[in-house]
Amino acid sequence: MEYICYCDKVTEEDIVRAIGQGARTIRDIQRMTGAMTHCDCANKNPKGT
Ligand code: FES
Repeated sequence: MEYICYCDKVTEEDIVRAIGQGARTIRDIQRMTGAMTHCDCANKNPKGT
């Protein structure tokens, strides 16, 4: 398992599930999964961005 959003611990599976539940925009994904909400990517994301 790999996080897509490390800061909020959101996986690809979480995002696919949100799409299955009706998410159609990035804003929908953010609202439904919490991804991209507590951004500290330089420290928490091993990709550094
Ligand atoms: S990796 Fe998603 S907000 Fe930092």
